[in-house]
Amino acid sequence: MDVVVVADAESVGRHAAALVLDRVRADPSLVLGVATGSSPMSTYRALHEARRRGTDFSQVRCVALDEYVGIPEEDPRSYHAFVRREIAEPLGVRSDHLLVLDGNAPDHEGACATFESTLRDWGGVAIQLLGIGRNGHVGFNEPGSALDSRTRLTTLSETTRADNARFFPRPEDVPAYCLTQGVGTIAEARRIVLVASGPHKAAAVAAAVQGPVTEACPASFLQQHPDATLVLDPQAAAGLADQPASESTRAR
Ligand code: GLP
Repeated sequence: MDVVVVADAESVGRHAAALVLDRVRADPSLVLGVATGSSPMSTYRALHEARRRGTDFSQVRCVALDEYVGIPEEDPRSYHAFVRREIAEPLGVRSDHLLVLDGNAPDHEGACATFESTLRDWGGVAIQLLGIGRNGHVGFNEPGSALDSRTRLTTLSETTRADNARFFPRPEDVPAYCLTQGVGTIAEARRIVLVASGPHKAAAVAAAVQGPVTEACPASFLQQHPDATLVLDPQAAAGLADQPASESTRAR
């Protein structure tokens, strides 16, 4: 695993976007795994800028990590809406090149199986952008998720529901259930770039990088991934025992 520490959250986005753009320029029809949440927003802004400067995303396919159960796709808080608004429309990704779990399917198990089989048909994820929850979750794989778990229906922890309450009118409106790619599914991405910024992510980042590889911190699976890079601001890196020098990359 590589850890890169850059000056601030905007620099995290520029650095992560550069890693994605390297791959998109080498393979303009690659499969890009995308994350929701606040963390990757600076990365998306940098990708939007790259498109304005001429990078073509029209052949790229985008696969989302997760989706709430019971929120209509058109609702701005759904991850379908997030992917369309923040990624597909500004980058010019075709709507038939988007793969997002169907949180309103009557048959959740069937929806997850269809998702996994489409992802396989697409050849898997070439490069995956990831955020990390305050409790070490990835996608919606909460602590306790098996490191070889597959795409499935699961429940949100109280920590995550509280963190995501800012997007809903009332805390009780945050869905209790979601569909998520499993840790084992995410781990099959050939390259992973995790972005984190802010002091509230420091403990989770430290556990993911330097703690044991354990279900208690789902992001710790990254230690066993052959091609993972964490791009951090100094606050998110503050819990690491052996601090990488700023703007440097160190293999761990
Ligand atoms: C959300 C998403 C994750 C995201 C994480 C962190 O609940 N399901 O994919 O990485 O929590 O969110 P944020 O970046 O807003 O802190």
